[in-house]
Amino acid sequence: MPIEAPRRTALRRIAAGLAGTVAVAAGFVTWAVHRPDVLFAKGRCYGGAPVKKKALVVYATRAGSTGEVARVISERLCAMGFDAEVQPVDSVSSVSGYQAVVLGSAVRYGAWLPEMTKFIAFQQSALSQLPLAIFTLHMQALGDDTASQAARAGYTKAVRAVVNPRDEVFFAGKVDPTTLSFFERMAVKLVRSPVGDKRDWDRIRRWADGLSETLH
Ligand SMILES: Cc1cc2nc3c(=O)[nH]c(=O)nc-3n(C[C@H](O)[C@H](O)[C@H](O)COP(=O)(O)O)c2cc1C
Repeated sequence: MPIEAPRRTALRRIAAGLAGTVAVAAGFVTWAVHRPDVLFAKGRCYGGAPVKKKALVVYATRAGSTGEVARVISERLCAMGFDAEVQPVDSVSSVSGYQAVVLGSAVRYGAWLPEMTKFIAFQQSALSQLPLAIFTLHMQALGDDTASQAARAGYTKAVRAVVNPRDEVFFAGKVDPTTLSFFERMAVKLVRSPVGDKRDWDRIRRWADGLSETLH
C-alpha cells in the first residue's frame, strides 16, 4: 500500500533529523579525540670512546615528553662512549645488532602504552639476551611513601612479567593541556592530575650516566 504524502514528508523529516544528529555526533567525537601532532624524537649519535657498544633507546609517547627524555638518555649514552640510537617504538622492528637496550613509556590510565607492551611481548626472546633498563614517565603517585611506590610498581608490573630489566626508574613527566585532546583534558581533570612540566633533568641525566655501568 503506497504511503500517503503527509506521512512520507514526516518520514523524510525524521530521516533528515537522524542523519543530522549522527553527523554532529561524529563531528564532535572527531574533534574531541584530536590532539596536536607530536614531534617524535629520532636520531643517532656516536660515542667515539672505545666502548664499541651499540645502544638502542626505544620509547612510547602520546604528547612527546617521553621522547624528549629518551633523547637526553641517548645523548648521555653517547657522552659515555656508546653509539646510541633513539627511536619511537613504531619505527623499530627488531633489536638485533644492538648490545644494550633502554625502553621507556608514558603511563596512561595506569599502564604503559599498549604499543610498547606489544613490542616487548614480540621481542621478548631477543630482549632476554640483552642488558636492558626501563624508564617510566608519569604524573601521579610521585611521592616517596609506600603507597606511591606500590602504585608506581603497578604501572610496570605487566612489563616485568615479560622482561627482566637490570634497572628501572620512574620520572615525573609533563602534562600540557595544549598538547592533549578534549577527552584527555577531561581525564586529567577527572583524576586531578598535576599539570605542568615536572621533569627533573638532573635526575634523568644522573640515571642515564649510571647506565654506562648497568648496561655493560
Ligand atoms: C589522559 C592521560 C592519562 C594519564 N594517566 C596517568 C596515570 O594513570 N598515572 C600517572 O601517573 N600519570 C598519568 N598520566 C600522566 C602522563 O603519564 C604524563 O603526563 C607523561 O609525561 C606523558 O608522557 P607523553 O608526553 O610522552 O605522552 C596521564 C596523562 C594523560 C594526559
